[in-house]
Amino acid sequence: MNIGIDLGTTNSALAYIPELHGELPDYPEIQVLQVPQYVAPGQIEPRRTLPSFLFLGDQTYVGAYAREQGALVPTKSVHSAKSWLSNPEVDRTAKILPWDAQEGGRVLSPVDVSTAILSNLRDAWNQAHPNAPLGSQDVVLTVPASFDEEARELTVQAAHAAGIEKLTLVEEPAAAFYSWIANHLAQSQKSLFDGQLVLVCDVGGGTSDFTLIRVHRDGDRIEFTRTAVGKHLLLGGDNLDLTLAWLVESKLGTQLSIRQRTALRRQCAAAKERMLADPKLKSVEITVLGAGSSLVGGTLKTEITREEAL
Ligand SMILES: Nc1ncnc2c1ncn2[C@@H]1O[C@H](COP(=O)(O)OP(=O)(O)OP(=O)(O)O)[C@@H](O)[C@H]1O
Ligand SMILES: [Mg+2]
Repeated sequence: MNIGIDLGTTNSALAYIPELHGELPDYPEIQVLQVPQYVAPGQIEPRRTLPSFLFLGDQTYVGAYAREQGALVPTKSVHSAKSWLSNPEVDRTAKILPWDAQEGGRVLSPVDVSTAILSNLRDAWNQAHPNAPLGSQDVVLTVPASFDEEARELTVQAAHAAGIEKLTLVEEPAAAFYSWIANHLAQSQKSLFDGQLVLVCDVGGGTSDFTLIRVHRDGDRIEFTRTAVGKHLLLGGDNLDLTLAWLVESKLGTQLSIRQRTALRRQCAAAKERMLADPKLKSVEITVLGAGSSLVGGTLKTEITREEAL
């Protein structure tokens, strides 16, 4: 089994290539692991991604529910641990998270959080594949190209703490490029040439990375090296969602509660993803439930147009 883990700033995922008769197939079919996680109190559901959020409630939650709940109680919420892991201004092994908690409430280091997310993926994997535990598999783990040596080392440390031993780090832009080649085999054979420079733009939830890759080609054999990396930019899809939410709130002409804003942001993210994935979709309806009792606040409705999302 070959396994790849994307430990993202906002979403994490595990994909794998199942072996055929104990060997890797020539034309591998990549599968994505369904990760069981709390999506609401007392409700566990499988999802293709595990939101990289922890919520320190009556127990420690990881995933979708942690993300929703954390937006309401920031002092118990840990998000963007990966950005802390790569921040040379802080002691990355010190217990500095949740960042919004009072001094005594900061109980986790960025490494602890990465370990918790990886442990969750490990448990999901082990549950689905009891005969091939993650600890004995070859695992590829991605890191941003802009990660410094210490951030890489700490990522490895977190993986080891989660029981992942056979580990190879791959830079995310390289992984994105491999993925593009795998999904556009014919086109890549045609259009990639020796000496070509390719710009890979990786827009994440909280960060964006720009990387130049040089292609080396000898017949059908394609290799590449990373030649330049931009700075780790703390700007990503989340900022687009916030901007859209702000726009919608001003269109509604009323000030929303924290709870309504949280719901609105999720809807803006979904609306953005739908419209940018489907060029034919002209607009998406947005509904915000009224605050307080139904007598006071009615349901608010508006839409986001394609133009606004673009
Ligand atoms: N079709 C789409 N068009 C544009 N943006 C999209 C689309 N689908 C998803 N997104 C956005 O892309 C961003 C992707 O975040 P993703 O989960 O890949 O980041 P991440 O891997 O956690 O972050 P990082 O790579 O920085 O660690 C989100 O803001 C999401 O809303
Ligand atoms: Mg990513």
